[in-house]
Amino acid sequence: MSKEKLNVLLLGSGGREAAIAWKLSQSPRMGKFFIAPGNAGTSAFGTNLPIKPTDFEAVYDAVVSNDIDLVVAGNEDPLVEGLREFLESRAMAEGRELLMVGPGKAGAALEGSKDFAKHFMAKYGIPTAKYLTVTPDNIAEGDAFLESLEAPYVLKADGLAAGKGVLIIDSIDEARQSLRRMLAGQFGKASAKVVIEQFLSGIECSVFVLTDGTGEYIVLPPAKDYKRIGEGDTGLNTGGMGAVCPPPFVDDEFMAKIDSRIIKPTLAGLAAEGIDYRGFIFLGLINCGGEPLVIEYNVRMGDPETEAVMPRIASDLLPVLEAAADARLKGMAIETDPRTSVTVMAVSGGYPGDYEKGKAISGNLAPAESIIFHAGTAAAADGKPVTAGGRVLTATSYGRNISEAAALSYKALEGVHFDGMYFRRDIGRDLLPYE
Ligand code: AMP
Ligand code: GLY
Repeated sequence: MSKEKLNVLLLGSGGREAAIAWKLSQSPRMGKFFIAPGNAGTSAFGTNLPIKPTDFEAVYDAVVSNDIDLVVAGNEDPLVEGLREFLESRAMAEGRELLMVGPGKAGAALEGSKDFAKHFMAKYGIPTAKYLTVTPDNIAEGDAFLESLEAPYVLKADGLAAGKGVLIIDSIDEARQSLRRMLAGQFGKASAKVVIEQFLSGIECSVFVLTDGTGEYIVLPPAKDYKRIGEGDTGLNTGGMGAVCPPPFVDDEFMAKIDSRIIKPTLAGLAAEGIDYRGFIFLGLINCGGEPLVIEYNVRMGDPETEAVMPRIASDLLPVLEAAADARLKGMAIETDPRTSVTVMAVSGGYPGDYEKGKAISGNLAPAESIIFHAGTAAAADGKPVTAGGRVLTATSYGRNISEAAALSYKALEGVHFDGMYFRRDIGRDLLPYE
């Protein structure tokens, strides 16, 4: 397919999708653009459709009624549940040409099953932490594996658990008890299997690969996110409180190791497994003494990393997404902006615990020196934005270095208000020694 204009349907509603929508809406190739369900900010870039991405029938209806050429999956749930297969079979039955960014069920298992991902890495020699998968049938083996490790102990629910399925535990007795609680259903079906892992220490980063199923790929600018609620990386885990792109420790030498030891073997492994993977692969990596190891795979972009990465892509993203979906990435590339970008997330008071929604958002949502992306927002009856989630909105700014970009993002958020608003003021501070 190579139409001059493409009608695009982007699935999701977070800051990640807002950033992708912002970027795609600037494409001269964009025809009609829809975001499902989107948020109060995405309606500035396209038309929001009130559809849940996991409602496959409704997604396909939207494809038909809006003559969609390309579907871009923002989040993992529909992919793990088989959206690609569903849309492909419907489109084929009706003779409709439809492209999609996002893997099928088999590829999405890289994120949907930690056991699958670890087995895949072991099989294809991809560096990662030692592990054992435990079910109710081999708990004794699990206890013995825990004994063989040093504290802290890492326990992971096999399946998707809304980002809450990873426990890092200091005492071995507690780890044994947690293992049993997880297997007994602490995270429902997701923890019917538990992966025990060796703890790795080092600094983390996120690398995003766009691939087309033929072994061709493009690497997007790398980023680092900040998961804890509190400054100095303290307190509870969140979906992400900010991001820096690029993290200065990811230099050419480290990137070359990632490419040869992780990206190429991952794509070769997918091909060997007969998995036609067209979409993003998010490598959650850790730098252990200069060596990259994989902490996890995701089958989508990161959030809030995307809010920092998209503004650093200087060329048109839409033709590249089309090519990945159409297995013709060969010879394609992206241009990157040389500046550093820093994204800071503003969250609802109480998050990641309980928080209230429906707070009016006021202030300058279009500052000259930053880009504000909506995340958990909704339009009230009068059209004005109100809070609708824990992570509410982000500010992204460019700078010659991290401090300069971060200062602009803090300034942008100082100009925005909602009841209970909170954001960290130390995004990227840990990276300053590497600059
Ligand atoms: P995951 O969902 O697998 O990315 O795990 C969530 C977070 O837990 C990661 O971003 C890491 O900060 C931490 N983590 C996961 N696995 C390990 C490990 N083997 N060693 C150290 N930290 C880990
Ligand atoms: N920022 C990490 C994630 O999107 O999973």
